[in-house]
Amino acid sequence: MNPVTAPRLCVIPGDGIGQEVIPAAVEVLTAVIPHLHIVTAEAGWGTFERCGVSVPEETLTAVRDCGAGLFGAVSSPSRQVAGYRSAILTMRQELDLYANIRPVQSLPRVSPRPDVDMIIVRENTEGLYVGRERWVDGGETAVAERHITRRASRRIAQKALALMQCQNRRKLTIVHKANVLPLTDGLFRDTVREVFNGTQMDADGRGFVIDELLVDVAALKMVAAPESFDVIITTNLFGDILSDAAAHWGGGLGLAASLNWGDGVALAEPVHGSAPDIAGKGIANPMAAILSGALLARYVWGMAEVAERMETAVAHTLAHETYPQLTTTQAITHSILASL
Ligand code: NAI
Ligand code: MG
Repeated sequence: MNPVTAPRLCVIPGDGIGQEVIPAAVEVLTAVIPHLHIVTAEAGWGTFERCGVSVPEETLTAVRDCGAGLFGAVSSPSRQVAGYRSAILTMRQELDLYANIRPVQSLPRVSPRPDVDMIIVRENTEGLYVGRERWVDGGETAVAERHITRRASRRIAQKALALMQCQNRRKLTIVHKANVLPLTDGLFRDTVREVFNGTQMDADGRGFVIDELLVDVAALKMVAAPESFDVIITTNLFGDILSDAAAHWGGGLGLAASLNWGDGVALAEPVHGSAPDIAGKGIANPMAAILSGALLARYVWGMAEVAERMETAVAHTLAHETYPQLTTTQAITHSILASL
């Protein structure tokens, strides 16, 4: 591949353990893609303290220019701070990263069950996350608006369709609460169905299997029968909650990877936060960050084999008898590099 077509990556370590796990992921990515062109940018709470904004304009430009970013984590204060807006929410909105892809697979040793293999496709821009809260009744009632648009529902469905075609996955479960929210969730459900109606999977004409679940039943099933899911598509808040629950089956936060994906730009990030309790100790698990890098390879750069190599190296490291003795970020990273 010549330098013009070499994949480009904007690396944004962020706060806390982001500074530890992202360099590890970059080490693995450059081992499997030696011609990867890397630029570094900043975002997060530390950036806000220094510059007064959590995501500088140059960072947004760098991610747009590269078409791909790898973000660590942000430390968000649990009190309101004037002028501060969460770095990851800002990047999702500013870069219009409308799909949040969260795969969950059983992995050796760390997964409580052997047969889980699902992808959660979460709408990433609207729902309750439009952030429109207000007081009414002279402060006696707080109201939050929940926005569902046909446009956002259609494009997330189209993303799910493309992903299912590329991954050869057939079963889609639409998760909603249309019995209580017939307008908003009815619109979401019906729009997803419209996009999938009439589409065919392959030359043999095998169609998709589309079913739907109310979110409460979906939560029960996520606990009781996670292996029954293939691809789940859902609105923003339901996807946020269900995907954290699902992460349990993939070995927990240290292993959970995600991809924020728009048109022409994507930002991969481990699901975990900045982990202030372990930050600076060199003991954070880099696997979630490495697996997030693999998502860029698979979905953004069209390098399925590279992604598989990275994922297999992680699984191999987990399965190896020495894994329990790998207690540092560096030791885990070295083991993965050796398993590539
Ligand atoms: P967290 O994910 O940072 O940590 C939860 C627990 O999991 C902690 O005990 C931590 O040590 C452990 N953990 C997380 N990642 C790990 C890893 N790679 N290896 C080993 N252990 C790991 O969530 P928490 O504590 O609720 O939030 C801490 C900060 O992170 C907060 O400021 C929060 O706002 C922020 N946060 C940021 C996110 C993001 O950037 N997307 C997502 C979640 C939280
Ligand atoms: Mg979350």
